[in-house]
Amino acid sequence: AAVVEHTFNVGGMEISQLCMNSVIYTVNQQLPGPTIEVSEGDTLVVHVVNGAPYPMSMHWHGIFQLQSGWADGAHMITQCPIPPSGKFTYVFNVTGQEGTLWWHAHSSMLRATIYGALIIKPRGGYPFPAPYAEIPILLGEWWNRNVDDVETDGLLTGLGPAMSDAFTINGSPGDQTPCGGAGIFQVEVEPGKTYLLRIINAAVNAELFFRVAGHTFTVVAVDASYTNPHPTDVVVIAPGQTVDALMSASAAPGRYYMAARAFESKTVANPPPFDNATATAVLRYRGVPDAAPAAMPALPPYTDVVTAARFYWSMTGLVRPGDPVVPTRVDHSMVVAFGLEQAPCAPDQTKCQGFAVVASMNRYSFRFPEEVSLLEALFRGVPGVYSEDFPRSPPAVAAARRATSVRKVNFNDVVEVVLQNEAYSSVLGAENHPIHLHGFNFFVLAQGLGRFDRGMKSTYNLVNPQVRNTVAVPAGGWAVIRFTANNPGMWFMHCHLDAHLPLGLAMVFEVLNGPAPNLLPPPPADFPKCH
Ligand code: C2O
Repeated sequence: AAVVEHTFNVGGMEISQLCMNSVIYTVNQQLPGPTIEVSEGDTLVVHVVNGAPYPMSMHWHGIFQLQSGWADGAHMITQCPIPPSGKFTYVFNVTGQEGTLWWHAHSSMLRATIYGALIIKPRGGYPFPAPYAEIPILLGEWWNRNVDDVETDGLLTGLGPAMSDAFTINGSPGDQTPCGGAGIFQVEVEPGKTYLLRIINAAVNAELFFRVAGHTFTVVAVDASYTNPHPTDVVVIAPGQTVDALMSASAAPGRYYMAARAFESKTVANPPPFDNATATAVLRYRGVPDAAPAAMPALPPYTDVVTAARFYWSMTGLVRPGDPVVPTRVDHSMVVAFGLEQAPCAPDQTKCQGFAVVASMNRYSFRFPEEVSLLEALFRGVPGVYSEDFPRSPPAVAAARRATSVRKVNFNDVVEVVLQNEAYSSVLGAENHPIHLHGFNFFVLAQGLGRFDRGMKSTYNLVNPQVRNTVAVPAGGWAVIRFTANNPGMWFMHCHLDAHLPLGLAMVFEVLNGPAPNLLPPPPADFPKCH
């Protein structure tokens, strides 16, 4: 196995987008940032140099971080942020996983522009016919404003960040938006060849539909976990998720749009507005001139819950000899209910109009610690940073409480969580929440709309469920996940719509050390300190 080394210089970059010039923060002056490519088993070393005027940390989304929890990069969960002008070297092994993952800033909305692909090549070849070439597709979201101001304003109003101005494909909104034509992503394909699309939803606040005119896909992996080949003409993808799809260039030679647009589902009659722009890129067959007209795919309607459910629920995991099987014993069974609710404005919320939006899991609205990260507090035994009273099931309380509360589980416990999406407020209703777990993959045993009840246990797929790190729990619906807590540390579980993170839609699993005293080594020497 090799050691793969990168230097990530975070800094300001001038960019012209949607007819405006602005300065955004990126890695190495690239949007999306550089692609990291490793082989399974390699060691990755990334020197992050923070040239931005904001404290920040970098997260390797979907990486297990087995015994390297210090490198997980979750702001105030596993580390204090890297201060402006500071640096920190992330070192970790990429063992036991392969496929498409990604990296992104994990502090404030900086991840809107600080993200890139992290591709793990298999050592033994793909379990599907080798593609002719690979095409990374990073779906993003764009604001015509400094994203830090967008977040600050969202906190001041108490309503969360304002909606974005566009979605992007590989950094560009495409030619269906003002001034978007010049930067549009265009890829050339050879007629008759098969391509592997590595699709990543790096958008900040929206699930997306993705299609390519005139072409269909065979999904072969999600979240860097192989699936049984799943044919589809549309990809549905939530922030945090990835989809690997084979696509054969077998249409008549021409130009074809790839297009992405929001999937929005709220259980209220008059949902608030959302970004309804369509992002485009172009697939061009070799020899076809750039000026040739391109065909546009028909995307599903914004609220097409049926198409989304068909895509999310019908895939099964590919089980090969030696792959982990679904554990049948459950040591730690939980129901985690989550949603948005209204709370009175805090006195310092100068722009707040009547009420603020608060999010919670089991009625705890997560508060980030400020003095020390949770992992350091656990490792050094710092008292008073967090409480271990995160409830196993939703308590009957009138309102969410703001707290730093974790759920303690023993090493190697099998944890099952029923994720229940709730409407705590009739004004806000329920909406989609993609729930992401750090440090582990989980089996998705069952998913549904409405309320989970025990009778649904008979529908669990214990044979070949999907394996994911992010599950899209539908508005007012549920999902059941199961994982083995085989990695000591503090592991964040949160909604991957960033608007909901500062509102508190998060919790943390504290996984205790195993029988050996030192499964979690001490923090690296250059570990950032708070303040
Ligand atoms: Cu993709 Cu907690 O993050």
